[in-house]
Amino acid sequence: MICDNITVGENGHLYFAGQDTVELAKQYGTPLYLLDEDKIRDNCRVYTKAFKKHFGPGARPLYASKANSFKHIYEIMREENMGIDVVSSGEIYTALQAGYSLENAYFHSNNKTDEDIRYAIANHIGYFVADNVEEVKAVDAEAARVGIRQKILLRLTPGIDPHTYEAVATGKVDSKFGSAIETGQAEEITAFTLQQKHIELVGFHCHVGSQVFAEDIFERAAVIMLEFVADMKKKYGYMAQQLDLGGGYGVRYVDSDPYLDVDKKVSEVAAAIKETCQRLNIDLPDIHMEPGRSIVANAGMTLYTAGTLKKIPGYKNYVSIDGGMPDNPRFALYKSNYTCLLANKMEEAKDFECSVVGRCCESGDIIQEHVMLPHSVCRNDIVAVCTTGAYNYSMASNYNRLPRPPIVMLCGGKSYVAVRRESLADLCLNDL
Ligand code: LLP
Repeated sequence: MICDNITVGENGHLYFAGQDTVELAKQYGTPLYLLDEDKIRDNCRVYTKAFKKHFGPGARPLYASKANSFKHIYEIMREENMGIDVVSSGEIYTALQAGYSLENAYFHSNNKTDEDIRYAIANHIGYFVADNVEEVKAVDAEAARVGIRQKILLRLTPGIDPHTYEAVATGKVDSKFGSAIETGQAEEITAFTLQQKHIELVGFHCHVGSQVFAEDIFERAAVIMLEFVADMKKKYGYMAQQLDLGGGYGVRYVDSDPYLDVDKKVSEVAAAIKETCQRLNIDLPDIHMEPGRSIVANAGMTLYTAGTLKKIPGYKNYVSIDGGMPDNPRFALYKSNYTCLLANKMEEAKDFECSVVGRCCESGDIIQEHVMLPHSVCRNDIVAVCTTGAYNYSMASNYNRLPRPPIVMLCGGKSYVAVRRESLADLCLNDL
């Protein structure tokens, strides 16, 4: 199986986090997002432990909450002592509703509105990760208005192509994010920021991309960033206290994806950072990273009920499910791989090739192509899609006026609803 929280029971049913998914589908209905809370906590602990061990006490992993954002996840992050990365007033609001105090929150985005900036400062956001000069000016103005000195990091682009899917690659020079080191704009924004009265520059940030497996991407990014840090120290006498290397570690969606050992990865990045600091004769900054996907993806599974089965002889077969691109747009957007299983027939041979498709009025509404399921697949079977904990619920829509599924948390053999299922009435809540 692609993750150790997925097993098969003696009754031939798919089990997730030790619980019978067929029973869960019956109890809560479908479509249904499941989240293995124990796995989320384990994933957090792997990061926090690795950070302490390899980077020292000032280091901290920040959960990139765009991967999956709802109240309860911020409670978990608070309990697990994780910092958070937020990207909108909406994520900030949700974190606050969960009682997450924002001192370890880092506010990202390439275009924060004046309203966002006011809201974040009014709620004592720990750090802005400023994308550009306009934002630095706007934060300085708001900080001056309320009479504080706001801590910020500057987002830089180290000019690295992480060889992932184009739409999730962000560290290249021509990216819409940050200021490029190569063009001199990173130095310009640093010099400018250091002159602002109401801003305390605490360091630099970069993020090279998502679903990254490539061997040494973080090491290469860290070396470029540290060389910049040393350059700023020499030219401006400014030493960065924090260096944030962003998120991006890949997870296993299908059997052919590699396993990524986070502790080992972090130790390798730490070795490269320590060696580079020594070579450049600078102190080791506090290192941060922002894992999103690798905290929640393998904690998730989506359950659907199969409906229409369509066989087009000589062409292809379709299994339609009661959800689709509104609850998981990732195949439609990125052609993402997923593992699909027939939860109530796990012991039958998988000898029927089909496309698992959604119920929307759109041909691109596909969850996965070339899926092998048992040939007995039929209406009312339960289809499970694995590894859906990241960028599914957080990217969900009401396209075709479909209500969003609930999130049910699985924890220590028990289950509970963390986000309730949207009702038909919810769909008209804002309609006047
Ligand atoms: N930090 C920053 C600044 C980011 O932009 C991101 C992701 C992360 C951290 C977290 O990266 P992760 O560890 O989750 O790879 N919707 C796409 C992914 C977009 C990622 C955007 N930024 C998907 O479904 O694959």
